[in-house]
Amino acid sequence: MGYMMLFPIFASLFLGVLAVPPEIDLMADSDIEGFNTNLFDPKYRLTEAVQPKQISVDLDVYLEEARFNGIVQLDVETIQPNLNQIALHQKVVSIQSVNIVDDQGRPVNLQFPNPFTTDDYYEILIINLASPIDLGNYSITIRYQGAINLNQFERGFYRGHYFLNNETRYYATTQFQPYYARMAFPCFDEPQFKSRFIISITRDSTLSPSYSNMAIETTTDV
Ligand SMILES: *[C@@H]1O[C@H](CO)[C@@H](O)[C@H](O)[C@H]1NC(C)=O
Ligand SMILES: *[C@@H]1O[C@H](CO)[C@@H](O)[C@H](O)[C@H]1NC(C)=O
Repeated sequence: MGYMMLFPIFASLFLGVLAVPPEIDLMADSDIEGFNTNLFDPKYRLTEAVQPKQISVDLDVYLEEARFNGIVQLDVETIQPNLNQIALHQKVVSIQSVNIVDDQGRPVNLQFPNPFTTDDYYEILIINLASPIDLGNYSITIRYQGAINLNQFERGFYRGHYFLNNETRYYATTQFQPYYARMAFPCFDEPQFKSRFIISITRDSTLSPSYSNMAIETTTDV
């Protein structure tokens, strides 16, 4: 049995049994190191052409197997005409499918046979449009698989632990600053992009309770 929860807005997730505070964050002061290194190399960067408006993230979490299945829906507005590609950040394990609809729900054709390409060095996902698209609002849906880091110093979506009565207890949580959100879901992983978020998590009922920086809207047995 598991539970599904919907958080209206979000910046961090916390799943697991919390009885004592997680251990001290040894990386807290080192975030800034290396942060500017790639700032001026355009290969690492997104353009302003596509702006996120609302992002819905749905994570189906298997903590014991250190993995999750994800679906992210990015509602975006294009502000440059005639785009033939859309670039996002990604550092997930694999991407199963990408599709795009316009604001009338009509599918936007992608290139065949390469509807999208990923660059794991620059941590980029490029969506290849079959023909240039008009200015407008679009909804991009991406199905993918992700890994929960067992080494918490790698950050992103990671497993941590604590001790209760000499028993090791595990939890899953996130640290997205400065560029680790892309390990949890393909996204616009630069601070100038602002968006509303709707987060839904499916997790085992033993991983209770769940925390977010906003109240949980609904919890459902599945
Ligand atoms: C996108 O949607 C917003 C809100 O409905 C609207 O104001 C805007 O004009 C739309 N953008 C385009 C390019 O159609
Ligand atoms: C925890 O383990 C230590 C060392 O084995 C032992 O001395 C202590 O009594 C244990 N504490 C509890 C609460 O079981």
